Amino acid sequence: MNTMKKSVDLLILHASELITLQGFSEKPAIGEEMKKLQIIKDGAVAIENGRIVDVGKSSEMTEKYTAEEIILAKNKVVLPSFIDSHTHLIFAGSREEELTLKLEGVGYLEILKRGGGILKTVRETRKASIDDLVKEGKIRLDTMLKHGVTTVEAKSGYGLNVEDEIKMLEAYKKLDEQHVVDVIPTLLAAHAIPEEYKDDPDSYVNIIIEEIIPKVAERKLAKFNDVFVEKNVFTIEQGRRILLAGKEYGLIPKIHADEIHCLGGAELAAEVGAISADHLARASDNGIKMLAEKGVIGVLLPTAPMVLMDYTFPDARKMIKTGVPIAIASDFNPNCWVENLQVPMFMATYFLKMTPAEVITAVTINAAHAIGLAHEIGSISVGKKADIVILDIPTHYWLNYKFGVNLVNIVIKNGRIVVEEGKIKE
Ligand code: NIG
Ligand code: FE
Repeated sequence: MNTMKKSVDLLILHASELITLQGFSEKPAIGEEMKKLQIIKDGAVAIENGRIVDVGKSSEMTEKYTAEEIILAKNKVVLPSFIDSHTHLIFAGSREEELTLKLEGVGYLEILKRGGGILKTVRETRKASIDDLVKEGKIRLDTMLKHGVTTVEAKSGYGLNVEDEIKMLEAYKKLDEQHVVDVIPTLLAAHAIPEEYKDDPDSYVNIIIEEIIPKVAERKLAKFNDVFVEKNVFTIEQGRRILLAGKEYGLIPKIHADEIHCLGGAELAAEVGAISADHLARASDNGIKMLAEKGVIGVLLPTAPMVLMDYTFPDARKMIKTGVPIAIASDFNPNCWVENLQVPMFMATYFLKMTPAEVITAVTINAAHAIGLAHEIGSISVGKKADIVILDIPTHYWLNYKFGVNLVNIVIKNGRIVVEEGKIKE
């Protein structure tokens, strides 16, 4: 009877599969757990005040609730909206000319050595104002949202001095305030050696440790502190110093590890207690074992080996077997302009041999762990934010089987429908 029913803000009913991913909010899913989506067939979700208040079978939920707004998700898959746990979201300019260079056989690190790559983007970003950066960022976030992403981690790293690193992080703060997508900021002052310090990299490391980290921490502009450990970029020793210094100030370590050369980045991530080790295309067996032992999330970025054109992909199967919790992210940056997380998602299946179920886990609950937010997002659980995506596929087995088009039907952020029929709702 209607009068007995509780009225909520929004009800989603009759999902062919309601993928809840419950049970991994405390600890990320590892090994076989990555396939446990905890599916409710003909599932329903009740949403009130931006939060999930109940989850169950449609038959039971329609007995308990009514709502002003009801979404009928027949023949559709309902799951936690996607989390992009590794992006370089804002920067000025572009680098399309480098694609031609790469096709001619000039490597990514060689381009960087010549003052291109990250250093080109640094020159352009230093010239940009906060408002320029926010404006560009909004356009990118809109596209990401349309493709199902409601939370992004976003790194600095194109300032490479006190003022411009802070400028980038201030831009992220504004962006987070002004856009419905949540932006989680990471300090990446250690992204490259700035041109003015190319003969004295240790002096720049000292600036990061003595000036940038304390200022960023004092203004609470970043949650994480990341380092690009790579040949001719930062050494393991420099990386260790920077990550430990950040820890002293409450910044949680992350690391660009073993992307182009195996330098022991995975081992360093485990040693310093990083929340994630990212890339890992060339991680050693020992590094992988250490990540598993310490529960460090392996954030894998399948677009990176493609845009580097070296096609050495991380060994996701070995990592999953060893017990490393895996997340998949876009690595959106000026060398990898991908605003659609569904691209790395399908690549994870075809190049990393991850099943659709594992990929879903890797962009929801495990991605939430990679940015320290698994208590708030990443699963359809009572009390969590109602950040939900509805995909226009009948079962999750269609994910990555059908690819190259946007699978998103509806995106819900904080309990509100924000994308419908491919368009952002004002
Ligand atoms: O994660 N590898 C280092 N950083 C980025 C690329 C940034 C850039 O080329 O601008 C990455 O791939
Ligand atoms: Fe990156």
